[in-house]
Amino acid sequence: MKVLVTGGAGFIGSHLVRRLMALGYEVTVLDNLSTGVRAHLPEEGFTFWELDDRAPEARERIVGGHFDAIVHLAGQTMVDASIRDPHFDASENVLGTVNVLEAARASGVKRVIFASTAAAYGDVEEDVLPLQEQLPLAPMSFYGLTKVVAERYLALYQALYGLDYVVLRFANVYGERQGDKGEGGVISIFAKRVAKGEPLIIFGDGGQTRDFIYAGDIANGIVHALTTEHANTAYNLSTQTETSLNDLVAIFGKAVGRELHPAHEAAREGDIYRSMLANEKAKASLHWQPEVSLEEGLRRTVAYFASAEL
Ligand SMILES: NC(=O)c1ccc[n+]([C@@H]2O[C@H](COP(=O)([O-])OP(=O)(O)OC[C@H]3O[C@@H](n4cnc5c(N)ncnc54)[C@H](O)[C@@H]3O)[C@@H](O)[C@H]2O)c1
Repeated sequence: MKVLVTGGAGFIGSHLVRRLMALGYEVTVLDNLSTGVRAHLPEEGFTFWELDDRAPEARERIVGGHFDAIVHLAGQTMVDASIRDPHFDASENVLGTVNVLEAARASGVKRVIFASTAAAYGDVEEDVLPLQEQLPLAPMSFYGLTKVVAERYLALYQALYGLDYVVLRFANVYGERQGDKGEGGVISIFAKRVAKGEPLIIFGDGGQTRDFIYAGDIANGIVHALTTEHANTAYNLSTQTETSLNDLVAIFGKAVGRELHPAHEAAREGDIYRSMLANEKAKASLHWQPEVSLEEGLRRTVAYFASAEL
């Protein structure tokens, strides 16, 4: 199967491209290297196009590439940046998606997999945790909003042109090669600090929770989405486990074999307190489940940051 991965030089892309290559897929990566890093991918074994997904040239290349499927990861991932600059966010996440969908429609691509987010749900009452896919989407950031808009474009392209899609709403993804600006950055920040022997800082009381999922498990979920018979719907990819930041520090300590004593600073405004996504739908229909424990994933992540040039 011939697959295009937009944003393939990014953090999640770097895990996905390796997995697809290992499984024998014919892979092309399209990335403008705005946050992605070419050296985060293997030197060879796939085609690399350094292009912006909003450019007319990107559309032409995609049409000429005759792909069976597109995994659309490219976009801007920073909640704060979306609030500061909604124009930039909409250009990246809406116009980029429309350009890719237009190319997909014009070239007979069979399926588009889209990277959406827990931020699509917005701030939900804690008693509805874990969040299920059928909840109303009420994003509280422009980033969440542009992801929801992109989801709706996918559904409309399906209705109008029969282009199949799978929306995957990722929880907080972590692992090797993660940057520390976009979504879910707390683990990459902590891992770099642990690797350098620097103290960890927790904003607030540390009781705030997140649903942390290893990037290799996300890559696996995307692979399942490429071939599922249950397309044209949205799935959460998550562990369905809440981990508090205090627990996270303790698990970090176990992973590296020493006790860590974080400093506490004032809580950051606007951060949601608890977060957890249900994963029963993905387990039942995609026949996927997360396999890497948080302790094992943290061990791999710290080892990576300890060996990488920081
Ligand atoms: N990391 C998470 O926890 C998380 C959670 C939910 C959803 N997501 C989504 O998953 C996707 C991948 O995220 P990531 O964490 O790997 O981020 P990332 O920033 O590492 O990857 C994004 C990639 O897209 C590329 N890119 C950005 N704008 C582009 C453009 N206009 N044209 C071409 N390439 C462009 C970047 O260079 C980068 O390689 C994003 O769509 C993000 O919103 C990530």
